[in-house]
Amino acid sequence: MFLVGVFVASFCVLVFFRLNLSETSAQAIQQFSQQNRFELATGDTMQLATKLNALMASESIQCVDGTYSDQVFIAAKKGSCFTSATNQRQKVDISTAKNLDIFITYKMPRFLTYSALALIATQILVIFAFFKVYSDKMNLALAGKEQLIAMANQVAHDIRSPLSALNMVSSFLHEVPQEKRQIVQSAIQRINDIANDLLVKSPTALLEQTQIAINTIPAAQIVEAILAEKRIQFQNYPQIKIVSDLSADQAQITADAKNLQRVISNLINNSVEAFENQRGEITVSLRAYKNQIQLSIKDNGRGIPDNILEKLGEQGITHGKANGSGLGLYHAKKTLTEMGGQLNITSKVGAGTLANIVLPRA
Ligand SMILES: Nc1ncnc2c1ncn2[C@@H]1O[C@H](COP(=O)(O)OP(=O)(O)OP(=O)(O)O)[C@@H](O)[C@H]1O
Ligand SMILES: [Mg+2]
Repeated sequence: MFLVGVFVASFCVLVFFRLNLSETSAQAIQQFSQQNRFELATGDTMQLATKLNALMASESIQCVDGTYSDQVFIAAKKGSCFTSATNQRQKVDISTAKNLDIFITYKMPRFLTYSALALIATQILVIFAFFKVYSDKMNLALAGKEQLIAMANQVAHDIRSPLSALNMVSSFLHEVPQEKRQIVQSAIQRINDIANDLLVKSPTALLEQTQIAINTIPAAQIVEAILAEKRIQFQNYPQIKIVSDLSADQAQITADAKNLQRVISNLINNSVEAFENQRGEITVSLRAYKNQIQLSIKDNGRGIPDNILEKLGEQGITHGKANGSGLGLYHAKKTLTEMGGQLNITSKVGAGTLANIVLPRA
C-alpha cells in the first residue's frame, strides 16, 4: 500500500511539472506577441530576428525558428526543438501577418528536470521494490510448500513400516473380543488410508482438493466409530474423559465418512492438546433438526485467545503447540464446506472450547 502511495504521489508531481511548463510557455508567448505587436503586424523580420536571437540567451529557451513567405529568417537551437516530456514547442500567435510563422521551444528549468528525473528513478525503484517483495513472498510460499511435501512423504514413509507390523499382529488377535478387534483393524485401516493419501498426492493437493466420497449414512454411526477409536487411543490417560450424547437416532447425512471422521479426530486431538496435565473432559453431542444435524465437540481445556480465535481456519495458524502445523482446522473447515456444512468455534480462555459442526440432513 505504501509503495502504491509513493508511486501515485511521484506520478502526480511529474504531471504537475509538465502542466506548469505548458502554462508558463503559453504566457511567455502571449507576452512576446504583445510586446512586438508592431513588428509582427508589419512582418519586420530584421527586428524580429534580433529580438528572437536575444531570447536565446535565456536558459528556458531551447529553440527559435521563423519563416516569412516560406523563407527562413531565423533558426537557432540548443538541442531538440520538439515537444517532449521536458520541452514545449509553442507557435507565436500572429493574426495580422498570415505569411509569418514563428515557433519558440521552451525548456523545463534545469532543477525541475533533475527533480523529474529523480522522481522517475524513484518510480523505477518503487516498481523494483514492489516486485522484489512480491517475488520474495512467492519464493517463501514455494519453499514452504516444498518443505510440506517433503515432510508429508517422510511421514507417510515412516508410518508404513510400523503399520505393516501392526497389520500382521492384528490378524493374530484371536483372544481379543471381536468388537475390540474390529476397532483395532478399522483404526489400522484409517492410518493406512491416510498414509496412502499422503504418498499418492502432495499435501497441498491433498488440502486443495480433498477427494470426497459422498454417501448417505446415519450420522451417529460415523461418530460412534471414531469415538470408539479415540477412546482406545487415550485409554492410558484415565483423566481424559470422552463423554458422548448421540441422541440423533437414525438421522442420515450425506457426507464422506472417512473425511468427516478425520475432522472429528482432529477436533478431539485439539481438545486433548488443550488439557493441562492430560486431565479434562470432552463432550460430543449429536442433535438432529429438520434439515440439518449438529455435532458439537466441547472441552474444558485452556481455551483460545481472541487474537488466535479470529484467525482460526487459515492455513498455518498454530499456537501453544510444539511442532503444530496449523492444518487441522484448515482441513476441517475446507472439508465441511465442501460437504455443504460449516464449522464454528467459540472459546473462552480458562473455560474451554466448543466446536460446532453443522451438516445438511440427507
Ligand atoms: N479445543 C481447543 N482448545 C484450545 N486451543 C485450540 C483448540 N482447538 C484449536 N486450538 C488452537 O488453534 C490452533 C490451530 O489448530 P489446528 O488444529 O488448526 O492446528 P494445530 O493443532 O496447531 O496443528 P495440527 O496441524 O497438528 O492440527 C492450535 O494450535 C491451538 O492453539
Ligand atoms: Mg490440531
